[in-house]
Amino acid sequence: MFLSGKRILLIIGGGIAAYKSLDLIRRLRERGASVRAVMTSAAQEFITPLSVGALTADHVFTDLFDRQDEQDVGHIRLSREADLIVVAPATADLMAKLANGHANDLASAVLLATDKKVLMAPAMNPRMWANPATRRNRATLEKDGIHFIGPMKGEMAESNEAGEGRMAEPLQIVGAIEELLDARPKPLSGRKIIVTSGPTHEPIDPVRYIANRSSGKQGHSLAAALARLGADVRLVSGPVTIADPAGVKTVHVESAREMRDAVEQLLPADAAVFVAAVADWRTDNAAGEKIKKVAGEGPPALQMVENPDILAGVGHHAKRPYLVVGFAAETQDVLKNAQAKLARKGADFIVANDVSHEGGVMGGDRNRVKIVSKSGVDEWPDLPKEEVAERLAQLIADRLRTVTV
Ligand code: CTP
Repeated sequence: MFLSGKRILLIIGGGIAAYKSLDLIRRLRERGASVRAVMTSAAQEFITPLSVGALTADHVFTDLFDRQDEQDVGHIRLSREADLIVVAPATADLMAKLANGHANDLASAVLLATDKKVLMAPAMNPRMWANPATRRNRATLEKDGIHFIGPMKGEMAESNEAGEGRMAEPLQIVGAIEELLDARPKPLSGRKIIVTSGPTHEPIDPVRYIANRSSGKQGHSLAAALARLGADVRLVSGPVTIADPAGVKTVHVESAREMRDAVEQLLPADAAVFVAAVADWRTDNAAGEKIKKVAGEGPPALQMVENPDILAGVGHHAKRPYLVVGFAAETQDVLKNAQAKLARKGADFIVANDVSHEGGVMGGDRNRVKIVSKSGVDEWPDLPKEEVAERLAQLIADRLRTVTV
C-alpha cells in the first residue's frame, strides 16, 4: 500500500485524546509507515514517552534544547526527515501557537519551521472548540494551508459532555493521511459515485430486528479507494461499527427501504456500486410496541414480505448511472448465479464472492472475488479487502474514462 516507506512526524498534544494517538501509531506502522513522535509537556501528563517510544520503535522527542540527549536531531531535521506532519490531538493551545507564529517549545518550533504538509486532528472540550478565538485560529490555519480532520460530534471523555470536539478516530486520521500523501493522478475527479455498504436492520418491534453478518468493511474501503482516485463519493451505510471513511459523504440508514430512498435521492450519478448486504425480506408490519411473551400462546408468527431490490431498481432506472455494479454473495454455483443476477438486475458487472469460503468473507478481512460481466469472467486471487477495493476502484475508473461528463 502507498503508506509503505512514508515517514510521519506525529506531534502529540496534551489532551485526553492522546491515548488514541497510541492506536494511530500502530495503525500507521501496520500500513508500512514509520512514525517519529514529538510530545508536548502537557501530552506527557496523559501518556508517557515510554509507551509512545515502544510503539514507534524510535526515540521520542520532547525538548527544544536537549544538549544531554545524543539523539537530539533538532527541529529542522525532524521536519526535513518527514513526509508529513500530523498533530493528534491538536489542542486549542497548539492551534493558537501556530496561528500566531509562536515557537517556544519543540512542537511549535517544528510546526513553524516546516515546509511539509501539516494535518491537524483537533480534540478539545466543545465550548473551547466553539470559542471565537479557536474559530479564528482555525480559519487562519486553513488559510495558511494547514489541513484538518475533525473534530467529530459525540460523547466526550469527560462525563456529561457531548458536542463537537472529539478527536477523529485513528482510522479516519489514517484515511486523511493517505489522501494527503497520495500523489497519484485523480482519474475520477468530477465523477459522482454512490456506494451502498453494510447490512440492513429490519425491525420486528422497537427492540428486535433481523440482521446479517455484513461488517461494511468491503463497501467502506471501496468508498475510500474511489475517493482517493478523486471521486465525489456518496456512501449509504447500513448500521456498522466501523468509522465513516475519510473524504466521503456518508448517509446512515437502518432498513432496506431507507437505503433505497437515500440512494434514489442521490441520483443522478456517474456510477453506483451496491456492496450492501440488503435484507431480502422484512416483517410485514413491525409491531409498534415490544412483543410480549404471553404464557400458552407460543412464539409470534412473523409474516415476511420482500424488500425492494435497490440494485435492480437503479439498474433499470430512468436516471440509470452510466456504470452499475453489483455484488453477489453466494454459497453455491457462484458463477452461474452471478451471471443470472447480472441480467436480472441490469448491472454492468457483478463482483461475485463465495461467502461459504473458509474463514468467512462476511465480517472477515480478506476476499476472493470473480468479476462477472457479459464479456466474461476475471478471477482475482485471495486479497485483503482494502486491495480488492483498490483494484475495483481502478477498474471503475478505467470503465468511466471513455465517458464524457
Ligand atoms: N441488493 C440490493 N437490494 C436488495 C437485495 C440485494 O440492492 N434488496 C444488491 C446487493 O447490494 C448486491 C446484489 O444486489 O449488490 C446481490 O445481492 P445478493 O444478496 O447476492 O442477491 P439477492 O438478490 O439477494 O439474491 P439471492 O438471495 O437469491 O442470492
